[in-house]
Amino acid sequence: MNHWLNQILQGDCLTQLARMPEASVNLVVTSPPYNLLNSSGNGMKNGNGGKWSRAALMQGYAGHSDAMPHDDYVEWQRECLREMLRVLTPDGAIFYNHKWRVQKGLLQDRADIVEGFPVRQIIIWQRSGGFNHNPGYFLPTYEVIYLIAKPEFRLASKAGGIGDVWRVRQDRGNPHPAPFPVELAQRAIAATTAEIVLDPFIGSGTTAVAALLEGRQYVGIDLSEEYCRLAQERVARVEAKLDSSALAKEPDEPAAPSALEVREMLIGTAEQWGVTVWP
Ligand SMILES: C[S@@+](CC[C@H](N)C(=O)[O-])C[C@H]1O[C@@H](n2cnc3c(N)ncnc32)[C@H](O)[C@@H]1O
Repeated sequence: MNHWLNQILQGDCLTQLARMPEASVNLVVTSPPYNLLNSSGNGMKNGNGGKWSRAALMQGYAGHSDAMPHDDYVEWQRECLREMLRVLTPDGAIFYNHKWRVQKGLLQDRADIVEGFPVRQIIIWQRSGGFNHNPGYFLPTYEVIYLIAKPEFRLASKAGGIGDVWRVRQDRGNPHPAPFPVELAQRAIAATTAEIVLDPFIGSGTTAVAALLEGRQYVGIDLSEEYCRLAQERVARVEAKLDSSALAKEPDEPAAPSALEVREMLIGTAEQWGVTVWP
């Protein structure tokens, strides 16, 4: 695994995952392309019914159009989930972030993607809304995270208390068109005892950053050379910051002994010299 650890690998995730040994990572945190541009509404619209031209994703991703025929998209994502499960240890789990939507009056709740996979729970990610106000709709403010877990998966001690609605603000200033916030990935990672975290659609490197901040190792994959470079640079900046703050930290003071420990030390010394300290 050393070949893979703490690397951002450029390439198609199915090809890269196929090279990884089975049961080699403990956790997957990921957000795939949502296939947003295969849309009956022709992508996102603004309040006047026209295209929301400033939406970053109107162009798709660098290297991926995000407009596959629906059935092909579903089969692709199912194949990705199968591969993620193959490389997961028996106590591993996948946090799979996706978005529900309605197309031509029919709900796409992504059930066709996750059907037959061991979905243990659905977490709601409550995020801030965008600016795409439309008089026909309430402003969308949530996405979902499917927790797909192998039988031996358990949360870290007391982590379950954070509940299944996670209120986390979206990222700002990230040049990637569809990043999730570091805090979202960090919550998922911190809620587990996983040592190695994989993201097969790592984009700007958010999952790697979250893994580093939580003291874990990561493996990241993305199709786009541009995003891989972005992710590598971002990860290097975070690593440098973590290193410099570790260096700046004073060495830990030895803890002062408790009164009881002092008494025991004195009694030990006194006994050694045949003296009684306390009656
Ligand atoms: C929703 S974005 C992930 C964003 C990421 N969570 C972040 O915070 O930056 C999906 C990513 O999947 C990548 N992608 C598309 N097709 C891919 C493929 N076949 N293999 C690997 N990555 C792919 C895109 O380049 C894009 O960066």
